[in-house]
Amino acid sequence: MEKYPCKKNTAVFISGRGSNLKSLIKHSKKKNSLIKIILVISNNPDAEGLKYAFGSKIKIYGNKHKSNFENKSLKLLKKYNIDLICLAGFMKILSGNFIKKFSKPILNIHPSLLPKYKGLNTHERAIKNKDRFAGASIHKVTEKLDSGKVILQKKVKILKTDNVRSLEKKVLKIEHEIYPKAIDKFLTNL
Ligand code: GAR
Repeated sequence: MEKYPCKKNTAVFISGRGSNLKSLIKHSKKKNSLIKIILVISNNPDAEGLKYAFGSKIKIYGNKHKSNFENKSLKLLKKYNIDLICLAGFMKILSGNFIKKFSKPILNIHPSLLPKYKGLNTHERAIKNKDRFAGASIHKVTEKLDSGKVILQKKVKILKTDNVRSLEKKVLKIEHEIYPKAIDKFLTNL
């Protein structure tokens, strides 16, 4: 029996800051994690997270041009034998054609308790609706926005004193905690 698991070649897609990317890179370096991050792709060449990935000696690709972003990305995914894509703050919607052509799993992290609040401004909507809880979900990506099977979610209490910023901060903290767990859970059950 192998002592450590065979890691899946993973690409992370980002659009900005990349704090979830950082938490995934940290996780991937652990001996018993099930992923190896080979490639980071962004639709924003200035994304802060790309700099971090570059510093971690991971291959990076940034392209803001809609027309060839998906085609070039598909070529790179093939070149690097990528088995899994993790969207981490990736704010572009992938086309059905891309999802079909990649043909392997794509996971996404979304800052709400899905199926509540698909799309944007999740924390603002939760506060406005006077919800008692907010949270984050990791789900499989399908052609329908934020609608694939949920793999893991965790909630946090919304306090009367919370505003969008404070809630975002609280939820982000649990995002960093649950995304690595959700990936390993998903790959274990494949
Ligand atoms: C995270 O809160 C993530 O859940 C959200 O963007 C943020 C990215 O932060 N994703 C979405 O809203 C996707 N619909 P990060 O760049 O620091 O990881």
